[in-house]
Amino acid sequence: MADLIAFDAKTQVFHLHNQQISYIFAIEDGGVLGHLYFGQAVAGYHGERRYPRKDRGFAGNLPVAEPERGFSLDTLPQEISSRGEADFRIPAFVIRQADGAQASRFVYASHRIVPGKPKLPGLPAAYVESPDEAATLIVTVVDQPSRLQADLYYTIYRDRAVIARSVCFRNPADQPVVTLEQAASVQLDFPAGDYRVLSLPGAHANERHLQKEVVGYGIKQFASTRGTTSHQMNNFIALTAPDADEFHGDVYGIDLVYSGNHALTVEKDQIDQVRVVAGINPAGFTWELAGGAEFQTPEALLVYSHQGLNAMSQTYHRLIRERVVRGRYRDQERPILVNNWEATYFDFNEAKLRPIVDAAKKLGIEMFVLDDGWFGHRDDDTTSLGDWVVDSHKFPLGLKHFADYVHNQGLKFGLWVEPEMISKDSDLYRAHPDYLLAVPGRAPSPSRFQYVLDLSREDVRANIAGQLSDLLDQGYIDYIKWDMNRHLSDIYSHALPAARQGEVLHRYMLGLYALLEELTTKYPDVLWEGCSGGGGRIDTGFAYYMPQSWTSDNTDAISRLGIQYGTSLVYPPNTFTAHVSVSPNEQTGRSTSLATRGNVAMSAVFGYELDLTKLTKTEQKQVAAQVAAYKQIRPLIQFGHFLRLESGNDYAWMFVSADQNEALLFTFHLLNNGQPAFHIVKMAGLDPAKQYEDTATHTVYGGDELMHMGLYQPLQRQDFTTHQYHFKAIN
Ligand code: DGJ
Repeated sequence: MADLIAFDAKTQVFHLHNQQISYIFAIEDGGVLGHLYFGQAVAGYHGERRYPRKDRGFAGNLPVAEPERGFSLDTLPQEISSRGEADFRIPAFVIRQADGAQASRFVYASHRIVPGKPKLPGLPAAYVESPDEAATLIVTVVDQPSRLQADLYYTIYRDRAVIARSVCFRNPADQPVVTLEQAASVQLDFPAGDYRVLSLPGAHANERHLQKEVVGYGIKQFASTRGTTSHQMNNFIALTAPDADEFHGDVYGIDLVYSGNHALTVEKDQIDQVRVVAGINPAGFTWELAGGAEFQTPEALLVYSHQGLNAMSQTYHRLIRERVVRGRYRDQERPILVNNWEATYFDFNEAKLRPIVDAAKKLGIEMFVLDDGWFGHRDDDTTSLGDWVVDSHKFPLGLKHFADYVHNQGLKFGLWVEPEMISKDSDLYRAHPDYLLAVPGRAPSPSRFQYVLDLSREDVRANIAGQLSDLLDQGYIDYIKWDMNRHLSDIYSHALPAARQGEVLHRYMLGLYALLEELTTKYPDVLWEGCSGGGGRIDTGFAYYMPQSWTSDNTDAISRLGIQYGTSLVYPPNTFTAHVSVSPNEQTGRSTSLATRGNVAMSAVFGYELDLTKLTKTEQKQVAAQVAAYKQIRPLIQFGHFLRLESGNDYAWMFVSADQNEALLFTFHLLNNGQPAFHIVKMAGLDPAKQYEDTATHTVYGGDELMHMGLYQPLQRQDFTTHQYHFKAIN
């Protein structure tokens, strides 16, 4: 462990390091934890680059007998800052003490270093499979007047450029109740400099587009107050050097392992230092901490790269793929599916679906997913959520009868559910009108005609777990698509007293995580796919329960280029799904070729979402060829390294195997031009010394040629064209 985490008792400095990164902080005056460095590995820190002392106007000092005027919390980079004393920047936590004051200052009390990585109770987190994969430093700090304690967790992995951080607050048993009004997962202070901040804003059907901004003076927040991760702002940001790009420059990623309200806040201070605080959004949040109680924050994953965004993404991809996703499907290839949503919407019955299953079988597709509308009497979106029993008009012989048909065709059977929701027209609502989130005396706001179940309540969760278990216990369901089609409003739980209503949103998340843990553990053979009106809940926390998630309700190939490009910044392609749908596209009206739709969808977990019975003979051949091709390249797509090469009017990305013996290149050209420039695409991540053969043309290229000289893209008189190249190393 000492090779990963060292404490120098003389200099009072902690140094977490591996071959790739170092994270250094010190116990400063008065026991305050001062941040010193996060970045490229330094073999040994000799203790000389301490934070300089400088007497600055209007900068308060520690309240000690002989204050040191050059030492101020106003400017000191720190590990955990508070509100109420002389640090006027954004705090990492805010505590309302029993006397009503918002005052606290945590100072060093003790520390310990443990092998591996402790689990976070009730929360998703990155994990280890053996204790020597990582070491964890736990620094206990205390607010001396109130004796409130916090354990700061820092895990460093042996072979990953990652630091995992979280905080656990603890109120001693003999102390009065205090209220947490903010409890961030991480604070990361940066030395004075010129930074850019990258974020992933979006909208329903337009998720996660890369935004890059100058970090200017003041405070900028990237947040969700929607009770969930949201389409509107993902819970990841990166700070970068001004000139950082896909392959060059310093990049610091900050990713929350959480699926609820979040805030990632960036502040540039008066002397050009930058502070990032990330965690549960403090808006609307309070948490009463009685004597003897603890509060564990979600985890944040910090990644550093000095080689630009692709290297950061690859670190996240490997970590999420190998040590966040769990279960049987973590290391298993995901089936190619056909989903009936865009094929039929609510208008189906067993007789209408059977030909789609037959067609899927002929084309080599491996799973049929029955989407929304199979339960209650749901012929549109106004009804039946909460009643997870089959609609006997659509399936007169029961759901198992249809699932048996699917299985007999050699396909797996998947099913859509939306367990967090309730329709007013449902037996569940009629029996339990208090189950939904609604403020007494106020009418709750409908959204898509539906309401949210109060999953902070154990009895509500038990009802839903019972209904889903009744379905899953029958043993014919191979896959579940867990959807969520509205955001949380009207926040109030009948299970909590007035003073604790600020806990409802986080308790909802803890309840949801408990439900997911229960079901995914009880049904380990089921493949679970997350969904929230498309990609409204793609985050690292959800990946802990759901190995894959639906990326967007926008299935238009050209829209998907930007959406998948942004999504890949953090999430590995085997955690997000993409389907070929009809042209013109249902969402955008745009027409694209089957080849373009196929290449975009094949760049992730692949499937179809159209009426396969309506394909022409030529299209059937093309689809069968795509399905067969994907089966060949699936290991490379789902478990290889992914590299973004270009975006704009030309997109290019590639996959390369760990041994660099195989690579796939996908290129896309959007709008054509009467007098087009010749476009060269340069690959990356290959072995320059290896010879690679294009498996279609048998042309041989050196790895160095493909990376340095690149390939001319063929010209075509058409918009939205694509090429797929498959290279294999020879000899
Ligand atoms: C939103 C999902 O993203 C769609 O794929 C589909 O399942 C609908 N919900 C069904 O209501």
